[in-house]
Amino acid sequence: MDLFEYQAKELFAKHGVPTTPGRVTDTAADARAIAEEIGKPVMIKAQVKVGGRGKAGGVKYAATPDDAQSHADNILGLDIKGHVVKKLLVAEASDIAEEYYISFLLDRANRTYLAMCSVEGGMEIEEVAATKPDRLAKIAVDAVKGVDLAFAREIAEKGHLPAEVLDAAAVTIQKLWEVFVAEDALLVEVNPLVRTPNDEILALDGKVTLDENAEFRQAGHAEFADVDATDPLELKAKENDLNYVKLDGQVGIIGNGAGLVMSTLDVVAYAGENHGGVKPANFLDIGGGASADVMAAGLDVILGDEQVKSVFVNVFGGITACDAVANGIVGALAKLGDSASKPLVVRLDGNKVEEGRTILAEANHPLVTLAETMDEGADKAAELASK
Ligand SMILES: Nc1ncnc2c1ncn2[C@@H]1O[C@H](COP(=O)(O)OP(=O)(O)OP(=O)(O)O)[C@@H](O)[C@H]1O
Ligand SMILES: [Mg+2]
Repeated sequence: MDLFEYQAKELFAKHGVPTTPGRVTDTAADARAIAEEIGKPVMIKAQVKVGGRGKAGGVKYAATPDDAQSHADNILGLDIKGHVVKKLLVAEASDIAEEYYISFLLDRANRTYLAMCSVEGGMEIEEVAATKPDRLAKIAVDAVKGVDLAFAREIAEKGHLPAEVLDAAAVTIQKLWEVFVAEDALLVEVNPLVRTPNDEILALDGKVTLDENAEFRQAGHAEFADVDATDPLELKAKENDLNYVKLDGQVGIIGNGAGLVMSTLDVVAYAGENHGGVKPANFLDIGGGASADVMAAGLDVILGDEQVKSVFVNVFGGITACDAVANGIVGALAKLGDSASKPLVVRLDGNKVEEGRTILAEANHPLVTLAETMDEGADKAAELASK
């Protein structure tokens, strides 16, 4: 999960990373009030989860509360690369002597963590990497050893930060590593990390990506969830602990096991080519225990998708055998009653397949069609969706 700058800075504050005071708002009048409160020139900063805000006119200096209000007025509603600005950060403007770059991230390719540091900050780091690669230090961080003050200083030194600020920078860099570890982040980036005229080091920007796999031990992160920006069906699926991703097609998909569901998407997309180009409508992995409740919750989410015209249930019975899955489907349809209104193609295979098929055949639900194979089921579901 990507955070807004103001949220990243909340985490920075929690771990003692120095920045300038400020507050977030969604009105120009309030931006003015915050500027008055701060009592010094401020920066009005668009809060969108996309880079290059400054270049797009989303970051403005305001010398007075009047300026703050008029800039806020202009920036609210601005479209920055498809992201409409709904919130602003009003932060005290800092005097800047130099701008640096620092980040910690997960380096998947090298199976390690990585620190990147450069004396060339403020601009896009991709540009520094392309034009002045020797100015951008990339230093592997051992997950067990982590980053102590001495190593933080080494990172700053390798990034060519000037000698006078190495000590101050090391303190901040070490704290940013603390943010990275304690908050279970995949990315912590500060661009620019600035040197003030009195050689203080401040984080004037912040980008943090949190690892959603760590949600279970980061209860405090729930407040960062961007409910407005989340698809309502995905939100509902999440409330039911379902592994669901909304796609843009007409054939709803339910399967067990991520691999099987992925191949089901492929097979349905392929079959759809013969039926007017219909496509899979979602990814949904109901996992091992396909109880009636889980099946009902899954079907409920999929049937709530207006684009869905048919549903393909493709389950391989393992520990949860096909008879349990079949009972799950029958139970789910009973539970959903009239709200289940779209045709269902069911393909079962694996443990207790005969028992499962018998259960479905005997239930003889008008919406359910049984398929013998995955290809046959995909074709049938695509055909039903194209009608
Ligand atoms: N509080 C501040 N005080 C003074 N100058 C600031 C402040 N915040 C930002 N700036 C200036 O504005 C520039 C752009 O700000 P910032 O880095 O936050 O946005 P950006 O880089 O355009 O957006 P993104 O980081 O999303 O690509 C900074 O490089 C810095 O020069
Ligand atoms: Mg920036």
